[in-house]
Amino acid sequence: MITNTELEHKGNLYPTALISYEHDQDTISFLTKNGVRLQITVLRDNMLRLRYATNGIFEHDFSYAVDENHPHGFNKLKVEENNSHVLIHTEKFLCKVAKDDLRVGMYEHGGKTILEDELGFHWEESFEFGGNFVKMSKTSRDQENFFGLGDKPTNFNLKGKRLSMWNTDQYAYGKDTAELYKAVPFYMGLQQNIAYGIFFDNTFKTHFDFCSERRNVTSFWADGGEMNYYFIYGPQMTDVLTTYTDLTGKPELPPMWALGFHQCKWSYYPESKVKEITSKFRELNFPCDAIYLDIDYMDGFRCFTWNKEYFPDPKRMVKELEDDGFKTVVIIDPGIKIDLSYPIFKEALEKDYFCRRADGPYMRGKVWPGECYFPDFTNPEVREWWSGLYRELIGEIGVKGVWNDMNEPAVMEVPGKTFPFDVRHNYDGHHCSHRKAHNVYGMQMARATYEGVKKFNFPKRPFIITRANYSGGQRYTSTWTGDNVATWEHLWLANIQMQRLCMSGMSFAGSDIGGFAEQPSGELYTRWIQLGVFHPFCRVHSSGDHGEQEPWFFGDEVLEISKKFVELRYQLLPYLYTAFYNYVQEGQPILKPLVYFDQEDVQTHYRADEFIFGNQILVCPVQEPNVQGRRMYIPRGKWYNFWNDTLVTGGKEMWVDAPLEICPIFIKEGAVIPKYPVQQYVDELEIDQLSLDIYYKLGKENSEFYEDAHDGYEYRQNIYSLRTFKLTGKTDEIILQQHKSGKFSASYETFKLNFHGLPFEVKKVFFENEEIPLDQLQFNAEEKTMIVNKDFSELHLVG
Ligand code: GLC
Repeated sequence: MITNTELEHKGNLYPTALISYEHDQDTISFLTKNGVRLQITVLRDNMLRLRYATNGIFEHDFSYAVDENHPHGFNKLKVEENNSHVLIHTEKFLCKVAKDDLRVGMYEHGGKTILEDELGFHWEESFEFGGNFVKMSKTSRDQENFFGLGDKPTNFNLKGKRLSMWNTDQYAYGKDTAELYKAVPFYMGLQQNIAYGIFFDNTFKTHFDFCSERRNVTSFWADGGEMNYYFIYGPQMTDVLTTYTDLTGKPELPPMWALGFHQCKWSYYPESKVKEITSKFRELNFPCDAIYLDIDYMDGFRCFTWNKEYFPDPKRMVKELEDDGFKTVVIIDPGIKIDLSYPIFKEALEKDYFCRRADGPYMRGKVWPGECYFPDFTNPEVREWWSGLYRELIGEIGVKGVWNDMNEPAVMEVPGKTFPFDVRHNYDGHHCSHRKAHNVYGMQMARATYEGVKKFNFPKRPFIITRANYSGGQRYTSTWTGDNVATWEHLWLANIQMQRLCMSGMSFAGSDIGGFAEQPSGELYTRWIQLGVFHPFCRVHSSGDHGEQEPWFFGDEVLEISKKFVELRYQLLPYLYTAFYNYVQEGQPILKPLVYFDQEDVQTHYRADEFIFGNQILVCPVQEPNVQGRRMYIPRGKWYNFWNDTLVTGGKEMWVDAPLEICPIFIKEGAVIPKYPVQQYVDELEIDQLSLDIYYKLGKENSEFYEDAHDGYEYRQNIYSLRTFKLTGKTDEIILQQHKSGKFSASYETFKLNFHGLPFEVKKVFFENEEIPLDQLQFNAEEKTMIVNKDFSELHLVG
């Protein structure tokens, strides 16, 4: 078995000297004396794939992570050799393969090292399971830092950490828990302003060591499968991340209601309780778009059934909720109750859809319904069947979103909390044991759910949320960080985990606001709402046995402050939706950690409290009790304090006031921020005017604003609108130019412009290059506002 000091392990085997190599258009194949084959495929000018076969024979090439439509192709490839190395030149960088031991190095064209093998590829044979433990080690510099790896609940910068990927149900996990619900074997390294990425596409249990075992060595290894990894060159982190998301895919745009505020609890039942909660939201004018039904809505926890005592007429209830502006989201777990009178169980049994142990018996395990069997979601036929099961729930009853849980898969009261290794899986025809399929089980469940919800909700967009996932799973589903705890440390973790998920290609993520386990104080709840409204997914959830967690439970002050922040989220929906557009189009993360925002500034490399929401809003949550403010780092550039419009110059730490009703928020100078009026739920109002908050800058700044019908697929036929605002500020002038593309026409005709920080009195206005009287634009000199037609192309204010 693999040991903790795997690198020193005596059973390690290494490639010997190269005897030959050959290449076709994009793949270079190396063979060593001891039969090791290395295949390097150039996918892009900035991305290589490296695969090793210890005995010259590769496995069948198959990946759940890689998006089959990923863009690839390169401009120029040159392969040559010298005495010691084979050299692969792409337009962006150089890869050298050593002839005497197959070690690989990556270099910039100017000669700077990006990343070099230390021991490089090595392996240990596994007698017990067959195959190998496959390993890789790289040298690392002292200044190097590491980011990524999905949902890990540890410091943002991974330097010094050792972590592994084995999807695990970790109720009330703690800081530094090595294995959580998701497996995202992708990280970025950054040293001397050069960023690169490693995606180790191996679904077995994988391990990562970032200079923890040895100071100048990083390594990654897996308990089976192939050494199969992608190297992505930056030098900007943006290049790395967008290339990774091109490879593993991006989701489609969610319906806008999914970006509203969501309320959840384990569990709201019966129907009267659900209605009591939703009515209270409306009574208090507290915006909310979705209400969740946890496991108790089912009949004995049987998936796709209803407890008719609690919910006698689900279709009517769902419709009434919808009429009141609430979408209903229900939970669906993978465990199917063993019960011959339960048609879904019977059908799956008859069709042989359940996972089996190695010698034939079904995989039996206890979950909420008691003893269950589990569909093999890695079988395409099972996924097809599963997606069909949503016909009634979505197509007839009208449920709008599905929440997949316990899909690590979780099994109660057994060692390891999951299936034993010998369980068999189809793995899309590449039959294997649970060792290989474990980390993709949840992803394939969510994929099947996505297909079903999409089919039966069409032409509206689907909404799925899952707990377990694997790289690439972002194509199908959003996610949350599982069973956290109502403590200040978990608030800190939620902030980091969301930034990390965004840096791992999974931007549509949120935490259980307020904490799932235990009970938050009003203060903690408020601070968590202040953070949660800036997370891509925004849901309060808690386990009911610790008390209530609705926003009104903590008294008037908490209610009022929480409402103010949720209202702010609703105002910022067009801005957030634009950030989603950038995410689904280009893979840009919705939250940008400071290191991603400004990697050149080394001050950012260890910062994690502050982050950029979208492109231009800086947020720094308060993460401690009893404080009236905090110190925070303001990134380089100039920023307006959102609360009082004072302009501060960044590149330094400073004190900011933050009594309970304030969370530090800053707006980048030059930004144009689109805002809706407050609504109780998305599309409650026909919007008759949209606000643009314009923050003066001496210089230039571009902003974007994306819109479409908020749901449906017409945006794919060009029925969207993308506006680019170019702001140019001079000492006594400001020019705003607008460029618009797409054919969508919004309900409103005008923009209300709110100018912030104008350093001059407006004396003249030129509209489309012609001077017009100020009152024609309803200019308000005191408030610095004016009304303009939404399709203006140039506006010029002169002092
Ligand atoms: C798991 C989920 C949690 C859910 C509970 C009951 O613990 O993580 O969100 O409420 O199961 O379904």
